[in-house]
Amino acid sequence: MATKLKSLDDLLVHELQDIYHAEGQIVKALPKMIQAANHPELQAAFEEHLEQTEGQIERLDQAFKLLGMPATGQKCDGMAGLIEEGKKLMEEDAEPSVMDAALIAAAQKIEHYEIASYGCLCTYAEILGYEQVHDLLGQNLEEEETTDEKLTVLAETVINIEAEEADDIETEEEASR
Ligand SMILES: [Fe+2]
Ligand SMILES: [Fe+2]
Repeated sequence: MATKLKSLDDLLVHELQDIYHAEGQIVKALPKMIQAANHPELQAAFEEHLEQTEGQIERLDQAFKLLGMPATGQKCDGMAGLIEEGKKLMEEDAEPSVMDAALIAAAQKIEHYEIASYGCLCTYAEILGYEQVHDLLGQNLEEEETTDEKLTVLAETVINIEAEEADDIETEEEASR
């Protein structure tokens, strides 16, 4: 059984271990998402975020160090579920642009989990007066938010429009058969 959470300090560490494990899962999942992405802009966005994620893990390492705790993860079932859903999605037979739109949706669900986690963590670190830890977590939070916004713009200006048109192309192909 896990140890009792007696204080906000304990909860901070608990949540830190959760997101640490989650980020580790994301680092493993992103290369598969890059491979499954069709649009070069989406591939580039995922590649950029993979690099960012590696940096985020380093910041988490620093945060653990500042708190005098070993950097350890605790299985994050929430992220495992989101990644599992993404995996199933990538096995689907889909039009390339529709697959891209679906990949963005999967990625944004992941981002929103991270935003929630880092948002809470930042609040705890602030209340507890851990300025440096707060700063590190704040940087991660900002990167997740920027990534989420970027994906929204990419979806709204390019990917979703192409996905919407995929249907027309399919119908035209059928008509010419
Ligand atoms: Fe992250
Ligand atoms: Fe992220």
